[in-house]
Amino acid sequence: MNKTPAKIQPAAGRLGVLLPGMGAVTSTFIAGVELMKKGQGRPVGSLTQLQTIRLGKRYEGRNPLIRDFVPLAKPEDLVFGGWDLFADNVYEAALKAGVLTPEQLAPVKRELEAIVPMPAVFDQDYVKNLHATHAKEGTRWELAQQVMEDIEGWQKKNRCDRVVMVWCGSTEVSTEPTAVHGSLEAFEEALKDDSKEIPPSMIYAYAAIKLGIPYANGAPNLSADVPALVELAEQTRTPIAGKDFKTGQTMMKTVIGPALKTRMLGLNGWYSTNILGNRDGEVLDDPGSFRSKEKTKTSVLDTILEAQLYPDLYSKFAHKVRIDYYPPRGDAKEGWDNIDIFGWLGMPMQIKINFLCRDSILAAPLVLDLALFLDLAKRSGLSGIQEWLSFYFKAPQCRPDLKPEHDLFTQHLKLKNTLRLLMGEETLDHSGLDYYDPRRGAVPAAPPPKPAKAKAKKPVAAAR
Ligand SMILES: NC(=O)c1ccc[n+]([C@@H]2O[C@H](COP(=O)([O-])OP(=O)(O)OC[C@H]3O[C@@H](n4cnc5c(N)ncnc54)[C@H](O)[C@@H]3O)[C@@H](O)[C@H]2O)c1
Repeated sequence: MNKTPAKIQPAAGRLGVLLPGMGAVTSTFIAGVELMKKGQGRPVGSLTQLQTIRLGKRYEGRNPLIRDFVPLAKPEDLVFGGWDLFADNVYEAALKAGVLTPEQLAPVKRELEAIVPMPAVFDQDYVKNLHATHAKEGTRWELAQQVMEDIEGWQKKNRCDRVVMVWCGSTEVSTEPTAVHGSLEAFEEALKDDSKEIPPSMIYAYAAIKLGIPYANGAPNLSADVPALVELAEQTRTPIAGKDFKTGQTMMKTVIGPALKTRMLGLNGWYSTNILGNRDGEVLDDPGSFRSKEKTKTSVLDTILEAQLYPDLYSKFAHKVRIDYYPPRGDAKEGWDNIDIFGWLGMPMQIKINFLCRDSILAAPLVLDLALFLDLAKRSGLSGIQEWLSFYFKAPQCRPDLKPEHDLFTQHLKLKNTLRLLMGEETLDHSGLDYYDPRRGAVPAAPPPKPAKAKAKKPVAAAR
């Protein structure tokens, strides 16, 4: 058991959070942190702000807040910037997104207005339903250099000691890795050749990782999930994580799926449908972008249920995922799941879930946690794919020879155990025979009984 804490650089100074894509999620996230800075917002949904971590045995009673246990940057030290296809400042973007009301935004209007996106790297073929009015020009190689200049200039201007990047841009059309993504050398050649096979999100990822800036991808497109960028991350000792924030329906799927398997209940089918009316919904109305989302949304059950081990229970289930763009709903997404299961003697049963959620309200705390944990990873000397952050993603990036872990609670245990390891504490596996055997010495001896107060002895006769 590792009991030596990692050498972690202190979280001193200002942490820049750069966000390619400044729409609903980004504006909701920034507004929330700016409200927190003024003591007016509650960071509900954020582990780094609200959750405790148990250390040692239960009877030790050591349960510090995560933020008191590991050295994280403080919300008041965060500074925000980013890029977008539209020149709207973050206040205007928040109004358009319609997640928070003008009344909710009023206390931080000035701070949000001051954040203006830098011109984006964009290729219409990768996001068909949006038309940029605020984009850079140049070959892909030139664009990558421009993004690096943006980052360095922004960091200097905003006096940031460190920077992290979280992709909150639109979902790009689905693509498969090809030879140009196979090695760093091939990738850089392809940038110079202005190869169409490199989408904009990969250019931001390349620029960040090249500068040693941790990068997380909140959308389903490949972005940093290709061998070339993993190689670059290892070379520049940069933490990376992705893909696709796990917020609503898929979070529920990765809770219910493991529950069914744990109880050995069978599955005949899982039908999931959603309506949403925000800009993300408009982008996903394009079949190419939807295909990216469909892949990450459907991949989770296969690895959770392990049909190869339980063919009778899980080899034949139908799995369907739909997303319909329905403008009246805005960001207030509604998801339905119909789950056809079977039990003892094969008897069929059904589960129905109707999740009336708010997409960006669920995503914003994930952006905060990812920014803070990526920065912690970097200061702790961790680099490459950060599997311990799988908890936050629908399609966790992992080593190519491994299967991703999808079970929400296994992911959660892995995240907290990583924090324990970093701080030189025992990891937790919820076992321990010592709980049942005092001779093993781990259970503290019961305190000696207090001497009973001497009672006046009643005469036998009176007691009768
Ligand atoms: N909200 C959730 O619960 C959730 C969950 C999982 C994933 N996501 C993903 O997060 C991303 C953001 O979601 P959102 O609701 O904020 O969407 P949004 O449409 O409101 O914002 C995305 C922004 O990205 C910008 N953009 C697109 N391409 C860009 C580029 N190349 N460079 C810079 N900016 C670019 C768009 O102009 C837009 O303003 C989407 O990809 C979405 O699929 C969201």
